[in-house]
Amino acid sequence: MLQLITTLIALWLLAWVIVLILLRNPSRSYTGPASVSGIYDMWANDPKMKFYWGNHLHAGFYGQPAGRKDFIRAKFDMIDALANWGIAQPAPTILQQLENPQPGAIPIRILDVGCGVGGSAVYLAERWGKGVQITGITLSGVQADYATRLARSRGLENVSFLKCDAMNQAFAAGSFDIIWSLESEMHMPDKERFMLEMARLLKPGGRVIVATWNVRDPFVAPLSASEQKHVQYLVNEWCHTSFDSIPESIQLFERCGFSEIHAEDWAQATMPSWREAIFVALRNGNGLGWSKPVAWWGNIRDAYTILLYDSAFRKGLCEYGVFRAQKPAGA
Ligand SMILES: C[S@@+](CC[C@H](N)C(=O)[O-])C[C@H]1O[C@@H](n2cnc3c(N)ncnc32)[C@H](O)[C@@H]1O
Repeated sequence: MLQLITTLIALWLLAWVIVLILLRNPSRSYTGPASVSGIYDMWANDPKMKFYWGNHLHAGFYGQPAGRKDFIRAKFDMIDALANWGIAQPAPTILQQLENPQPGAIPIRILDVGCGVGGSAVYLAERWGKGVQITGITLSGVQADYATRLARSRGLENVSFLKCDAMNQAFAAGSFDIIWSLESEMHMPDKERFMLEMARLLKPGGRVIVATWNVRDPFVAPLSASEQKHVQYLVNEWCHTSFDSIPESIQLFERCGFSEIHAEDWAQATMPSWREAIFVALRNGNGLGWSKPVAWWGNIRDAYTILLYDSAFRKGLCEYGVFRAQKPAGA
């Protein structure tokens, strides 16, 4: 009997060691655009994403200081907060044109870079109606098809989606008044090229709004070896390429010719998103797909990664950078 119990305990411990080894090795590292489209194709086909996240693959805004809020409500509030900070505050006349377009006026053209399944673009298209014409691009064909169906189901004609690589876009120079990028910059393999492409696509005087994940400024407090390892895991596990610090990103905006550059860290306002992503699944158990072992393992991996993100943001190792800037009027 004692031998049996000892064997069972040994097997139990061995199972835990194997699980930990598997979890600690990132399985979804960036190896090129196909690796990014691969995970987003998969998530767009996964009913649990729609079930818990609505049509929004981004953080929620819980206020400053952060309060309690419904998980999906917070995502809509994030879009409103970003539109307010990135457009209404620096460019009230553009907001005026968006909200009250003059009869016959040309709509404001917005490019949503890394549009996911279209949640933000569809919401803004509904909010601003005739005042706006939005184009959403994503690397994932499944996301682009999903977003197109979503827009059609709402009867929207002022928003469209296509599969397109932000690093290499076919749009003509000066095609857009505003570029909006909510949590896609972390995937860009060449951030300078990405930034230059945004500068090229904007009309002179056009505005860019970027929300992304940054790493703490190492010049203020260098990262220890274990912190570097922690960040590298976060970069690797969900197909990211790298996280810059907020000052590095500001320098990049400057180098690429932007002016009126403003940045803030919204880590506190978005922090509850991480734990809520797990609580919402525990509260609304349906749709987790526990009956399928593959989905089961995927859920554990994602929960583990989410907890590591949560701790990185809580410790100040990661920051939630929001940036707004303008392409100079004469450029
Ligand atoms: C975390 S999701 C952001 C979701 C979206 N902004 C939203 O509001 O729900 C990241 C998105 O960036 C897109 N992306 C990543 N790299 C890209 C690239 N090089 N070109 C175009 N889209 C890209 C992915 O396809 C995905 O749609």
